[in-house]
Amino acid sequence: MCGIVGIVGTETVTARLIDGLKRLEYRGYDSAGVAVLNGSGLKRARAKGKIVALIDELSDNPIDGPAGIAHTRWATHGEPNIANAHPHFAGKVGVVHNGIIENYQDIRAELSHRTFTSETDTEVIAHLMDEALEAGQSSKDAFAATLKKLRGAYALALMVDDGQNEIYAARAGSPLAIGIGDGEMYLGSDALALAQLSRELIYLEEGDWAVLSPKGFQVYDQNDKAVKRDVTVITAGMGASEKGDYDHYMLKEIYEQPITVNATLKNYLAERDQFGDIAQKLDFNSVDRLVLTACGTACYAAEVAKYWFEQYAGLAVDVDIASEFRYRHPVLSPNSQFIAVSQSGETADTLAALRYCKDAGLKTAALVNVMTSTMAREADMAMPLNAGPEIGVASTKAFTSQLTALASLALLAAVQRGKLSGEDAEKQMQNLGALSLLVSTALEQDTHIKKLAKDLSVAKSAFFLGRGAMVPIAFEGALKLKEISYIHAEGYAAGELKHGPIALIEKDTPVIVVAPHDRLFEKTVSNMQEVAARGARIFLFTDSEGHKEAGHMAFASVAMPAADPFIAPIIQSIGMQLLAYHTAVTLGTDVDQPRNLAKSVTVE
Ligand code: G6P
Repeated sequence: MCGIVGIVGTETVTARLIDGLKRLEYRGYDSAGVAVLNGSGLKRARAKGKIVALIDELSDNPIDGPAGIAHTRWATHGEPNIANAHPHFAGKVGVVHNGIIENYQDIRAELSHRTFTSETDTEVIAHLMDEALEAGQSSKDAFAATLKKLRGAYALALMVDDGQNEIYAARAGSPLAIGIGDGEMYLGSDALALAQLSRELIYLEEGDWAVLSPKGFQVYDQNDKAVKRDVTVITAGMGASEKGDYDHYMLKEIYEQPITVNATLKNYLAERDQFGDIAQKLDFNSVDRLVLTACGTACYAAEVAKYWFEQYAGLAVDVDIASEFRYRHPVLSPNSQFIAVSQSGETADTLAALRYCKDAGLKTAALVNVMTSTMAREADMAMPLNAGPEIGVASTKAFTSQLTALASLALLAAVQRGKLSGEDAEKQMQNLGALSLLVSTALEQDTHIKKLAKDLSVAKSAFFLGRGAMVPIAFEGALKLKEISYIHAEGYAAGELKHGPIALIEKDTPVIVVAPHDRLFEKTVSNMQEVAARGARIFLFTDSEGHKEAGHMAFASVAMPAADPFIAPIIQSIGMQLLAYHTAVTLGTDVDQPRNLAKSVTVE
């Protein structure tokens, strides 16, 4: 989703702004631009497509100066072309924006005497501000007045050709951080954007706005009162991430999982099979329901957790897609524990669900990978994934870390609620302790899965089937394939196939069956045979026992390492990741930044 970088100082800024934009590339975008303010006013360069196109444009028409704002745009209003790319200019004002100005049409109508040059919602901000300047207001007053007229979500950075060397910034709904420098100040959508510039960040709060100059900055709250906000010092691990020898970030992140699941686990299980401090802060015995809300891959992690909490802890769980949650008027009991599950901690819908539940009086927690994120700051309790920066748009290591954390919490709930004996709890803790090793073993299937990906890559459409906790893993497998290979894929509960989708099975339709040898194995194999009888090409993801029993019925069979049913979903998800990855590589797609997708979806 849109990314923002800003620098105000005394040295030239363009090259460093471009570097910041590169660090935001992972968020997904379709055009980019930069504006600088120098002795001769505001200048800008914009390009459709990747940042290299912007670099080309800048080498033909260089611009530079001591202050600048830059932007990667993920189109919402208006197609991705140069006219719609940010920064947008009006008179003396240049602005970049992440979010959606919901009342932009009303503002445009009010300003119909002005000439608009784009189809974006953003351009109204520049015009509103320029109108206020023309009416004689100071830049600072004009900015404060402009913000009061905007409805919707925004993080924005704005410059005025007023002889001052300043950047104006504001945040309402979309994240924005100020980076503190020495004789320079910075702005960025996240810590990664600012990784090379500053480790001392101030995260603007809802409704905050700020004025930055080379000498310092001042933050104001939504009532225009000068306020002080806490400084967060970013540790090295939260900074930039390099691809190393891997062809893609996604592959690197898949291979990091033996380490990242352990890094997650450390927060929840302490030495000698005791629960860690973070987990201990939750009391699942005093609640009668768990409400899990998330988007995309994180939501599938929550779906797996529903099986765990219900089976092991006897705790009722509602899992909701965040974008549906608050608008369907959920019936909430204050005696529920709410957990927002999110890699970024910034997904607009998940954040809205968190706020909704907080207002409804629920105990709230955020399970996030970015501990400086808005969700981590706003929830009653923040729980870390510790998976390290995830750059590939398609989530992999964050997913297995979400599963690992949620599995630990389900065990904790089982113990707190007296549903699991000490012995059984210890056995499951040991299973979690062995996870890293099993994930490593699962990765040994890489070469085999790579070969299968060649067969899958010719397909137009594929089905993913599972039963029990493998249903969300099948959903996630289908999502991964769609996201990065652009092959149409559907995940289904295996038993549901007969109720419609089986009509789509014809000769050679690929059906990926996720079926470790558990108590539902035979039932899943029966469903597998039903589609095989209709010509489907079966790719069976199972374990050695399942491979022995049913491998011969499949076109191809992958024996993932045998695992206790409790942790098997985590192990099977590795197979799904590798299958999607190699299929996408075979097809030559942009694996790390798939078309149209954004890593962090900060608009509704
Ligand atoms: C986007 C990403 C997905 C991610 C989802 C939720 O759609 O492309 O990979 O699963 O957002 O993101 P979150 O940061 O809340 O986990």
